[in-house]
Amino acid sequence: MKFVAQPQISEEEVSLVAETVRSKGLVEGKNARSLEDAFAKFTGVKHAICTVNGTAALHLAIEGLKIPPNSEIITSSFTFIASANSISFGGCIPIFAEIDPETYNIDPEKIEELITPKTKAILPIHIFGLPSDMKAINDIAEEHNLLVIEDACQSHGARIDGKHVGTFGNVGCFSFYATKNMITGEGGMVITNDDELATVIRSIKNHGRSPQGGYNHYTIGYNYRLADPLAAIGLIQINKLPKMLAQRAKNANAIRKTIDELSSIRTQRIPKGVVHSHYICAPVVEESSNKTAPEIVKELNNKGVGSRQIYAIPCHQQPTYKEGIKSWRWSKYVEYPEYSKLTLPITEKIARSHFEVPIHPGLTEEEVQKIQSVLTEVCN
Ligand SMILES: Cc1ncc(COP(=O)(O)O)c(C=O)c1O
Repeated sequence: MKFVAQPQISEEEVSLVAETVRSKGLVEGKNARSLEDAFAKFTGVKHAICTVNGTAALHLAIEGLKIPPNSEIITSSFTFIASANSISFGGCIPIFAEIDPETYNIDPEKIEELITPKTKAILPIHIFGLPSDMKAINDIAEEHNLLVIEDACQSHGARIDGKHVGTFGNVGCFSFYATKNMITGEGGMVITNDDELATVIRSIKNHGRSPQGGYNHYTIGYNYRLADPLAAIGLIQINKLPKMLAQRAKNANAIRKTIDELSSIRTQRIPKGVVHSHYICAPVVEESSNKTAPEIVKELNNKGVGSRQIYAIPCHQQPTYKEGIKSWRWSKYVEYPEYSKLTLPITEKIARSHFEVPIHPGLTEEEVQKIQSVLTEVCN
């Protein structure tokens, strides 16, 4: 529990990886296909397409939807930088909307005022595993004829009224990075119900080949394939996912109960009908608290409870967007907003005042109890 995350790897993963390597299944192949089938079944979607990581999944989604350079894509800034960067790769422009202070997700009420003739899509992020308000987002998208790309990289297992996230928009993107709810180490998945989009994405993730492979190439593409030894880890992990999610929920619910009892901190509100997939538990420090989040992080770490401020610098305040964007190759052709002048008070406040506590499924009952008591001691 010195760490906020811990990969759950057992002999099962090790033995399927070894078997795969022994059989010389080194490149994307039958394990990847089986993982796609299992993930499509788990999320209840027609098409699941393996990728080399979640960032590639997002990039493929934007390219697959053929969103032209100079288009604006509305997203939020309280996230991992990959959400914004995937927009910037192909010359699109991230437009950061304010977040909801209770869920830390994009505030649908702040989207419409940002829509311009250049807006082509909304990219909501289900932050920490809590679904965004997809009904409101889809309504706006429909009214303004916009595409919806879900960044579900943190939310395997998250649902709204029983429906898995990633299936509400045109396309959903997942990461299997080593800290995630299910892992391959590096890896990702794109999901969609759109047959044509699935065909395009399968091709561009594989150098523009046809499904038969070979050396005829029909469009510009990338190599975003997932190696089969990694897919082997994913195949075991997806079988264990329901159990790992249940353990995460158990740990998170116990710790959320402690948080609820402390007046100096609060955590994400879970709307009715929503299943949080509990990737991260991140309380925020109330203004009335006599300690700052960095002080709490330090005290927790000193007392043996892993903690960090994962997104202390939101995307619009990262050097990448404040300064670096000016030397990005697309800036010759694309007019970016002055991100350094952008202020998003709620985003900035949540960024400043949040901190993580461990809830991963590797925690023992005693460790959960220790986290509860240390949290109470530090935040009381
Ligand atoms: C919200 C979000 N988007 C995108 C990504 C990118 O995924 P990956 O690290 O697999 O490229 C991550 C991964 O950490 C993420 O948390």
